[in-house]
Amino acid sequence: MKLRLLLGLALVALLALAVPRAKSNPRPKTPDPKPLVYSPRPANTLTFTKDVAPILFANCASCHRTGEVAPFTLTSYADAAKRAKTIASVVEKRVMPPWKAAPGPAYVDECRLTDDQIGLIKQWTAEGAKEGNPADLPALPKFPDGWRNGEPDLVIEMPEPYTVPAEGRDIYRNFVIPTGFKEDKWLSAVEIHPGNRRVVHHVLVHLDVSGKASELDAKDPGPGYRTGGGVGFPSAGQIGGWAPGNVARRSPDGIGVNVPKNSDIVIQVHYNLNGKAETDRTKIGLYFAKGPVDKRARLFPLASRISIPAGDDNYRVTSSMPVPSDVTLRSVMPHMHLLGREMKVFATLPDGTELPLVHVPEWDFNWQMGYAFKEPVKLPRGSKVTLEARYDNSADNPRNPNSPPKPVRWGEQTTDEMCLAYLNFTVDSESLTQGKTVPSVTDYLRKAGEARRKKQEK
Ligand code: HEC
Repeated sequence: MKLRLLLGLALVALLALAVPRAKSNPRPKTPDPKPLVYSPRPANTLTFTKDVAPILFANCASCHRTGEVAPFTLTSYADAAKRAKTIASVVEKRVMPPWKAAPGPAYVDECRLTDDQIGLIKQWTAEGAKEGNPADLPALPKFPDGWRNGEPDLVIEMPEPYTVPAEGRDIYRNFVIPTGFKEDKWLSAVEIHPGNRRVVHHVLVHLDVSGKASELDAKDPGPGYRTGGGVGFPSAGQIGGWAPGNVARRSPDGIGVNVPKNSDIVIQVHYNLNGKAETDRTKIGLYFAKGPVDKRARLFPLASRISIPAGDDNYRVTSSMPVPSDVTLRSVMPHMHLLGREMKVFATLPDGTELPLVHVPEWDFNWQMGYAFKEPVKLPRGSKVTLEARYDNSADNPRNPNSPPKPVRWGEQTTDEMCLAYLNFTVDSESLTQGKTVPSVTDYLRKAGEARRKKQEK
């Protein structure tokens, strides 16, 4: 029963990952940062070109450059000097770079400043943010231009441009693109290029095999069709997503995402209106798996039931699932809305050893990031994966959308809440090339539930 509920929640969640970005970004009070471990450099010797630029170029410029997600560039002395104090403050609070996971297992593209780097930026700022010798300035890193994963095998785009009005409520719009694939295909990456970063807030890519999406499209005037957050059809799987800071990565050889023949690809774009009519035409690069695919990349949303009383500043939930077969976990992506304050996901091995998977001590709704492990995590059958989350539904939480606070439950609107962690994994015993398949996560769970019931009956 509980299992079925969990699964229900999970499916709702899968359809509803897109969440609006808060218009402003007030930050809840955080505990004072730990004192930095930093040995000050000799007074007045630090310069931008020699000491600070290498840190900013390596850790900030990927987003703070022309055409990227950040609102200003940090690629020159003038850029940095102008806001030295703000920079020192956000790096010390670890608001920037926006890497939200506490140190744990090593992650791909981990982006976190060391205490020494933060101390150095603070000292440089306090001493007047000097430029130094321009000859010392390092070259900017070479940033990939265009497609990060190289030229895609197939580029699909919204059938026509879509214009969002200047004002009104946020818009979730779904655009249907028939694949016309005559046979099943395997993808190793889905790279999303928002057509207009000024208004595109989130993009999700779903598969439809029911034909329902194109029916909805036909009924709605204008390009695509509108929904309140879900996609409006039973998704046959989410195959990609984009949010600021997220980069599509190719899955390793032999692992892929299945796209059934004749399916439709549905691009859901969440638009934030910005006071000006804007036009968007988002594009998607599909990369087909090279060579035979042996294992299916699977996504499981580990969710918890929530019902957050009004005014509760420390509402906590825990949810666990047994691992019914040997699996290899590749990434985890926590998801909550505005009241979420902290999430921890860990595994417990059959011998009782605890393996941290991800801990986001200061949840920030604006940065919905996935954390991919450098070394995939092996979880033998009989392990358990646990999620723990904490919410603040008090009037003191500046992100609380309700004033006065109201009871908040699970739902698709930003002002509702969610509690889940997407687990991305493969099943070790699966070998498609040898004809050994493991049907689906649903069957997986059913099996786990049955096993548990049998045990209880004994
Ligand atoms: C993954 C992309 C990304 C990276 C990496 C990044 N930033 Fe940002 N930064 C943003 C975005 C987007 C905003 C605006 C939204 C926000 O404040 O969250 C921002 C805002 C800021 C602000 C304004 C904050 C405020 O409260 O006014 C500063 C200062 C800043 N970044 C400095 C840095 C520095 C310094 C680094 C590197 C140490 C860095 N950022 C790395 C994306 C990034």
